[in-house]
Amino acid sequence: MRLVLLLLPIVFFNGLCKSDVMTAPMHKGELQALYLVIQGFTGNSLNVSQLYSDPCGWTPIQGVSCDIFHKLWYVTSINIGPVFDNSLACTPQAKFNQYIFEFKHLRSLSFFNCFSSQHPTKIPSNAWKHLSESLEKLEFRSNEGLIGKIPKSFGHLTNLKSLVLVENSLTGDVPQELANLVNLKKLSLSSNALSGRIPASLGYNNSMNQLLILDFSRNSITGPIPSSLGSMISLLKLDLSNNNLNGMLPLELGNLRNLTLLDIRNNNISGGLTKSLQCMASLQDMLMSNNQLDGRIMEFRWENLRNLINLDLSNNSITGEIPESMVSLKRLRYIALDNNQIIGSVPSNFASLPCLKALYLHGNSLTGRLVFSQGFYERLGRRFTAWGNPNLCYSGGYVPPTGLKQCDN
Ligand SMILES: *[C@@H]1O[C@H](CO)[C@@H](O)[C@H](O)[C@H]1NC(C)=O
Ligand SMILES: *[C@@H]1O[C@H](CO)[C@@H](O)[C@H](O)[C@H]1NC(C)=O
Ligand SMILES: *[C@@H]1O[C@H](CO)[C@@H](O)[C@H](O)[C@H]1NC(C)=O
Ligand SMILES: *[C@@H]1O[C@H](CO)[C@@H](O)[C@H](O)[C@H]1NC(C)=O
Ligand SMILES: *[C@@H]1O[C@H](CO)[C@@H](O)[C@H](O)[C@H]1NC(C)=O
Repeated sequence: MRLVLLLLPIVFFNGLCKSDVMTAPMHKGELQALYLVIQGFTGNSLNVSQLYSDPCGWTPIQGVSCDIFHKLWYVTSINIGPVFDNSLACTPQAKFNQYIFEFKHLRSLSFFNCFSSQHPTKIPSNAWKHLSESLEKLEFRSNEGLIGKIPKSFGHLTNLKSLVLVENSLTGDVPQELANLVNLKKLSLSSNALSGRIPASLGYNNSMNQLLILDFSRNSITGPIPSSLGSMISLLKLDLSNNNLNGMLPLELGNLRNLTLLDIRNNNISGGLTKSLQCMASLQDMLMSNNQLDGRIMEFRWENLRNLINLDLSNNSITGEIPESMVSLKRLRYIALDNNQIIGSVPSNFASLPCLKALYLHGNSLTGRLVFSQGFYERLGRRFTAWGNPNLCYSGGYVPPTGLKQCDN
């Protein structure tokens, strides 16, 4: 049934009659290459060519898809690893076979949970240009034993829309050749051991203006955030968290008008929020804890970020008072300002934020009286903290569980 559904559009567009399609043979070279490639990953414990005599037809290999070009079947998609319940498993000795570069119409190639640390493997560094015409999606995910560098030759894959290299053991720099991938919508290199700087070529000359997701989180990347990222104007999510980035947030990030997530947590970013960032009106998640952001953050016109839901500024070096404009953001749900050097009083209109679920203020130098109602304290429970502000006290009959002392009257 699945086969028929798959075939109908092809019948329609190619003007072939159904029986032609059913009997169309697979391109011979493709068939041989497919057996060699699959056998390389599954090992010799099963005989792939014997089990799957017609891999694009009656005996499909789970994770392999095909399509018809000029009356012959070609492989268009290969997913290696336990993606489906009945996928072929990788042997611990899984290896790349060079025939993987022979497929003429391969659009999607993915490896999930395949390369094990018992037998560390590198991504082949050459030959990727053979797939440059066709490949749109390339993914290596959760391969503990995938080591070595990201090949520079990935830069030949100029039709890629998605490059995902997540949760592997890749090391070395982010190659600047990735800047050639101007059709990318998603670039994720999260959770590897990458080092070096973010190449300033990425996004240079507005070249990556279709990118929607850029995720370099959980690596050991150093140096500043290049201003060229500000030209990726379609970007929705920018995640650089858990690296060793330093320097200030570049002015140009303010061009990212559609950005909904900006995550720079756990880096060494300093300075404040430049005025230009006030233009990021789509921002919902501004996550910046554990950096060295300073007082200039408070001079910011928060009221422009009217879509903000989660604001995390914990563990920085922020000074100054909590601006009233921050407390005007009606969608705010989570506010963490703890462990800074914030002074002044706590605005009572926090209580009027309709969605507020968490407010962390502990470890600052706030002063004066907390004047929230019992209902407010009960609503937030342990998600309200204010201890560690020596000159802050509570007033009113209700004793909030804040660890603060009652104000003298
Ligand atoms: C798999 O089976 C085919 C056909 O029976 C045979 O020609 C081939 O040598 C076998 N391959 C392996 C790796 O055993
Ligand atoms: C940017 O564009 C200029 C002018 O078109 C060109 O000379 C330069 O090589 C480009 N730089 C990059 C890094 O693509
Ligand atoms: C930003 O989002 C709007 C609304 O979804 C869309 O129309 C616009 O094209 C986007 N801008 C860019 C530069 O992608
Ligand atoms: C963070 O930056 C400061 C100076 O800007 C430097 O002294 C410190 O070593 C850096 N910390 C880390 C963890 O890189
Ligand atoms: C802030 O730092 C403290 C102490 O190092 C740590 O326990 C806490 O988890 C940090 N907060 C965040 C949001 O990471």
